[in-house]
Amino acid sequence: RKIALVTGGFTGESVISLKSANVVEQHLDHNRYDIFKIFIYPGDWHYKSPDGEKFPIDLNDFSVNLGEEKITFDGVFNILHGSPGEDGKLAGYFDMLKIPYTTCNALTSAITMNKGYTKAIVQDIPDLFVARSIQLFRQDEETVDQILKELRLPLFVKPNNGGSSIGMSKVKEPNELQAALASAFAEDSQVLVEEFVSGREFSIGVYHAKGRTTVLPATEIVSSKEFFDFEAKYAAGVTEEITPGRMSEEEVSRVNRIIAQVYQKLNCNGAVRIDYFLEYETGKFYFIEINTVPGQTETSLISQQVKAIGMPIQDFYTDLIEEMFN
Ligand code: DAL
Ligand code: MG
Repeated sequence: RKIALVTGGFTGESVISLKSANVVEQHLDHNRYDIFKIFIYPGDWHYKSPDGEKFPIDLNDFSVNLGEEKITFDGVFNILHGSPGEDGKLAGYFDMLKIPYTTCNALTSAITMNKGYTKAIVQDIPDLFVARSIQLFRQDEETVDQILKELRLPLFVKPNNGGSSIGMSKVKEPNELQAALASAFAEDSQVLVEEFVSGREFSIGVYHAKGRTTVLPATEIVSSKEFFDFEAKYAAGVTEEITPGRMSEEEVSRVNRIIAQVYQKLNCNGAVRIDYFLEYETGKFYFIEINTVPGQTETSLISQQVKAIGMPIQDFYTDLIEEMFN
């Protein structure tokens, strides 16, 4: 089969997507699939051949003309983080062309890209808690005072449709809030201001293939930084990542049950990764967010989790590809 490995993107996460795509490309089963790496940038969609030659994509049918030969694709391996790969735009485009893809459908991608809307949907799952938050659509005069009246410091201020902690800050003092809002609004027209959860931090992969949903072992994130920011996420050694994370048997079974329900309730496809905290005092599960095109770089968590269950990463990718044709 001919598979388009789709990378690049319109946001600051495109650099991560390129790294992820390299890792995925290395581990895909090249005997089984013909892989074509497609780069999607604003106004510039192209296939790059192994010898570095660029061929433009025909957007009418997502085909590429290699001189004599016109290539069309049987399916898309989507590893494009952020817009347009993770927010449903590409999903909608591929739906119109009837080309299957490895990630969530357009509606699910659009909702889950938005941290605030996602919380509103998952918050009635039993044993799942969400931190108190305010969703802002613009920054006006009263914003700062109003936030400080309604929410308790410290706060996280995030672009609502962002990723990789870009434009995000932790606010410990009231006088830091204004600048934090400005840097989040510089990235997005919507901002989420959320109360800090004091607890242990985890991130966990889950995917559906071969007729069942598999929750991978969680990774515990022990960061020496104030939070798991862009540097901590991608620079080696800044953060200690423990897979499987340290959880009691009760916690593991509760978390796995919650995670499977989140995946089902949001009608996910493919491999997604969910970030959560277990509160220190109570052990309560706090949902933070879901990443529907999780990173697959050399330091990424999903690959650590797949290794931890003894599964060759190539088999994992094959399962994801085969699943889109089911
Ligand atoms: N948004 C980054 C790529 C992740 O979730 O891994
Ligand atoms: Mg994220």
